[in-house]
Amino acid sequence: METPDPPPRGKRTPVDFLAELEPCAARSLDRHLAVSREWFPHEFVPWSEAQDFDGPLNGQPWRPGQSSLPAAVRDALVVNLLTEDNLPSYHREIAVRFGRDGAWGTWVHRWTAEEARHADALRGYLYAGRGVDPIALERARMRHMSSGYTSDQPSVVHALAYVTVQELATREAHRNVGQIGGDPLLARLTACIAADENLHMIFYRDLCAGALALAPEEFVPALADVLCGFQMPGHDIPGFRAKAARIAAAGIYDVEVHRDHVVLPLLRRLKIMEHTGLGPAGERARDRIAEHVEELHDKARRFQRLRPPLRRHGILLPGAAAADGPGRGGNGDAAR
Ligand SMILES: [Fe+2]
Ligand SMILES: [Fe+2]
Repeated sequence: METPDPPPRGKRTPVDFLAELEPCAARSLDRHLAVSREWFPHEFVPWSEAQDFDGPLNGQPWRPGQSSLPAAVRDALVVNLLTEDNLPSYHREIAVRFGRDGAWGTWVHRWTAEEARHADALRGYLYAGRGVDPIALERARMRHMSSGYTSDQPSVVHALAYVTVQELATREAHRNVGQIGGDPLLARLTACIAADENLHMIFYRDLCAGALALAPEEFVPALADVLCGFQMPGHDIPGFRAKAARIAAAGIYDVEVHRDHVVLPLLRRLKIMEHTGLGPAGERARDRIAEHVEELHDKARRFQRLRPPLRRHGILLPGAAAADGPGRGGNGDAAR
């Protein structure tokens, strides 16, 4: 029986795309299952430090000062936790987008299971260490999850590009908060979460490479749209802008981290800037990406000038200067 001709270039439906990328998804899934490492959230909860709270157990109410975590670290942990909390909405998004059958479906469910341990571990760590006001946290979770999350990515290719960037950004956000949090247990916990996010990113990045090979004239414009308009999945968390500013000021996630550990490594890995055969739409999109990188350079320079006043006003964390060095965020190209 003859294999049917592929649909004309540029005319693929989402179903066509997913079907053509399925062998790539299956290979990446097999590799993911072979290399991903089991870990246990309960091991990262400092149970011996925990105390009953007020309420039915009539324990001690939460008070500021019960935890020595710096304020920006607490901000980052709350943003990261509330982001992870919205997993049901993210699951729905990728299940609808990628389907529940074959390798795609196996991935969607495995990914969801791995993601679920992130909020589990972070909440346990924060509750036991009294790192944040548990009532404020619970109310924020209710508000955030009640509003849901809807991806507005217009195509499957956009969705693949977005989840790749998002997993990489999330890896950095988790890892960096642990690196400057001042608690070795937190550093180990966030390293486990970051390792998961890294493997998720690698799965999606492989699919991006597959989409680039299949339809460069569609993939590069989608990647340009995603990079130029990127927002963290938790950007609609109440108070996000103020928290994000403090997180950036502390060097946990700022424009330099985004440029040096998310955008540039991804462009290098996919060989976007040296790719030939993009077609006119792809070439225009690559120009947009180059302009975006220039804008990131400008923003990073402006932010560098802001750092000394931020330090003088005590907004930067003690010790955060060390995190400005070349080791910050680890090696972006560790994403292999
Ligand atoms: Fe996660
Ligand atoms: Fe992830």
